[in-house]
Amino acid sequence: MAINRKFTNVSAGVPGPKGAKLIELRNQYVPNGVGNNTPVFVEKAHGSIIEDVDGNRLLDFAGAIGTLNVGHTPEHVVQAIKQQADQFIHSCFHVGMYKPYIDLAKKLSNITPGHFSKKTILLNSGAEAVENAVKIARKFTGRSGIVSFTRGFHGRTLLGMSLTSKVKPYKYKMGPFAPATYKAQFPYLANRPNGLTEEEYIDFCIHQFNDFLLTEVSPDEIAAVIMEPVQGEGGFIVPPKRFVKEIYAICKKNGILFIADEVQTGFGRTGELFASTYFEIEPDLITMSKSIAAGVPISAVTGRSEIMDAPSPGEIGGTYGGSPLGCVAALEVIEQIEKERLWERANTIGTTIKKCFNELKEELPIIYDVRGLGAMVGIEFVDPITRQPAKELVAALTKTCYENGLIILSAGVHSNVLRFLTPLIISDEELNEGLDILKFSLQQVIGKHKTEVK
Ligand SMILES: Cc1ncc(COP(=O)(O)O)c(C=O)c1O
Repeated sequence: MAINRKFTNVSAGVPGPKGAKLIELRNQYVPNGVGNNTPVFVEKAHGSIIEDVDGNRLLDFAGAIGTLNVGHTPEHVVQAIKQQADQFIHSCFHVGMYKPYIDLAKKLSNITPGHFSKKTILLNSGAEAVENAVKIARKFTGRSGIVSFTRGFHGRTLLGMSLTSKVKPYKYKMGPFAPATYKAQFPYLANRPNGLTEEEYIDFCIHQFNDFLLTEVSPDEIAAVIMEPVQGEGGFIVPPKRFVKEIYAICKKNGILFIADEVQTGFGRTGELFASTYFEIEPDLITMSKSIAAGVPISAVTGRSEIMDAPSPGEIGGTYGGSPLGCVAALEVIEQIEKERLWERANTIGTTIKKCFNELKEELPIIYDVRGLGAMVGIEFVDPITRQPAKELVAALTKTCYENGLIILSAGVHSNVLRFLTPLIISDEELNEGLDILKFSLQQVIGKHKTEVK
């Protein structure tokens, strides 16, 4: 098959000569530990297209790791940032308050799930939102325990890392980790033990969680359970709704706060404005970041007013938290998401991607699982003969994709899941060109790796 290109062009090679020179400088001046998924040096970006320093044009199915539901540089967002920068860039909310902070706090309190009075603190990053949600939960409950889940990801700070459950590269030799953090088992339907029906498996997982409360930590020591409604870094794993609702009910019964980490799932990605709505839960606290502001660094914790008010003045916050530029960008982004009902578009995008890969799965047994919620779709690759996660194949595939003009990332503890984080404003034509590049690259990689394909 050939790629019918309308939007992409990689004639300079990825990386091209200018990119290659910058990579040399990057290696000289930026530490090794800062990972780079692609060798792309961005010159400009708009919508779903990134143009690199060599003039290559690539489709962006990574969206800055799920940050760009409204795409790159939406004009009204850029305009709002410029206007704010003209007025003032920063006054620090703790020193000089400003209206966009209040407007965004009000907006988030109104649009997040939960029919109760809410308040919002604004911060800078996803990890910082998680840190603050935990501090607030501990202060409110007077308890210390925090329960997260296997394969969960909550950031790279010490506490974020402690709650995270992928050792390499996130935690390896970086301990000791924060005390009073516990990991419960997260369901993984695609890998359930042979012979168990879906319902039996869900019963088993709930039983396991109740066991965990007997063997690991008592409910009255737990301040909060933190859960990604759909696991992101862990491999785009969608838990069964009954499991999530049951954990939520156990929390309610035992005075444990439920924190939904919607840093990756929020703002329309999963087919609802927030994934918690799909799971029919009203979290006590919600952490948000990524697609909140089209790439301007800002994050939030929104929660029940009485919980959010537990810390005393000065106990939460920070110099840059809720910067004016982030606030005005977020307000514009949310307005666009609501006006264009982008969560509905997420469902259409997800259906297209799943259809494409379900068809391919018929002929390519290396495609083990096609799953997801809304546009948050993951494709898991497993060697059909050895049953081992096809990590090398997925690494080769993401590389071949960017060489062919498509940026896409992997996920999962074995890095054998291809994950889709396309902007939700992507056109059908762009989406199809990206999928064509992906199919073409998959053929190339399978051919090269001589994988057994029947
Ligand atoms: C669910 C979740 N929580 C927290 C984080 C950490 O966010 P940040 O990288 O902005 O600190 C991420 C980032 O991928 C995430 O996906």
